[in-house]
Amino acid sequence: MIKTRFTELVGLKTPIIQAGMGPFSTNMMCGTVSQAGGLGLVSTSGLASQLMAPEMFEIFMESTPGAKEAGSPLELYKLIYRNILEQTKESKGVFGSNIMVSEELRGMAIKLVETLVEITDENEEMAKRANVIITSAGDPVKMSELVKGSPLIWGHVVPSIKHATRAVKAGCDFIVASGQEGGFHGPWEPISSMILLPAICEEFPDVPVVGAGGYCDGKTLAAALVLGGDGVQMGTRFLATKDCEFADLWKNKVVETGDRGSLRARGMVGPARYLKTPVSQEMCQVTIEYAPGTYTGVPDTLKSIPARVLMAEMKGFAATFSGEEDKALFAGGECAQRIKDIPTAKELIERTVKEAEEILGGIAGKVIS
Ligand SMILES: Cc1cc2nc3c(=O)[nH]c(=O)nc-3n(C[C@H](O)[C@H](O)[C@H](O)COP(=O)(O)O)c2cc1C
Repeated sequence: MIKTRFTELVGLKTPIIQAGMGPFSTNMMCGTVSQAGGLGLVSTSGLASQLMAPEMFEIFMESTPGAKEAGSPLELYKLIYRNILEQTKESKGVFGSNIMVSEELRGMAIKLVETLVEITDENEEMAKRANVIITSAGDPVKMSELVKGSPLIWGHVVPSIKHATRAVKAGCDFIVASGQEGGFHGPWEPISSMILLPAICEEFPDVPVVGAGGYCDGKTLAAALVLGGDGVQMGTRFLATKDCEFADLWKNKVVETGDRGSLRARGMVGPARYLKTPVSQEMCQVTIEYAPGTYTGVPDTLKSIPARVLMAEMKGFAATFSGEEDKALFAGGECAQRIKDIPTAKELIERTVKEAEEILGGIAGKVIS
């Protein structure tokens, strides 16, 4: 058993978070991760996609029994929580939400947090086991009054010391340090996990820090702990599990991905990491021409980019879900090259912890004195 400040804070059996992976649904996987002792996360950005990307919203709803009758995205959110609470009642597992708080999504983010506070008020079990949120992609200080005035345990995802400073100022209970290796959305000025995680741990020694970006097994969990971290958040690795409700085409693509298998290009909301395919390579070409800020580190604005550059992502994802392999787009991280199988989420969590324990237990034997 690996106990850290993070597992103690949240009440977890393992220091592993299943990352939010919106705008797609992780509702089903969230429950099984929580049952297995990790922190399962509901990915909420899909709940905000009803108007902008109705086809994504449809796909999101498919993985929630009773979704069509829910009525509104916020009622659907409540239903998702009630379903997961029921699913995890034997294990008493903990679960939470990833809520994106960027400028465009802040209105929805506020409604989601308010709804979550209502949900956790429904009964004791909800209050105890469904009280974690991880915000991302925006300034946490703007959410501070709302979240700090609630009983929620709050983490925020950051790509730099500057952003971590905002998270601490906002009063976050823990930080997720997200390296540039990670799948999908990334920062304009990327830093690798090897540098970012220890840098944030050194800067904020009193705050639990979870590493994200490149973590996928016991070796990388052990590394995160050695670097000063309190746990790991894994996206690409959980995507390729039996419990993940993503398309099989996507999971298989992760497993097939080899050496030098990912790249960065301009996505809908900024720089993003995708698995390397002809479709994502074409997106790189277009990025060089119309959105070079992705590679120079100078943020562009939506107004300066042709709409077809921004729409490429949604078109690609729609093809992924409809099974059109030659047009499909796959968000994914560098660690895809180390992922060789599709286990259950439970098997993944168990073997990751076991491997990390063995490595950490035997580390003294590696050092020749
Ligand atoms: C398909 C996909 C979708 C993602 N969507 C979100 C999201 O909605 N919100 C968010 O904060 N991060 C999102 N991420 C990033 C993950 O939460 C996580 O931080 C990242 O995957 C960690 O790096 P890894 O892929 O190397 O494990 C996404 C990642 C992937 C692969």
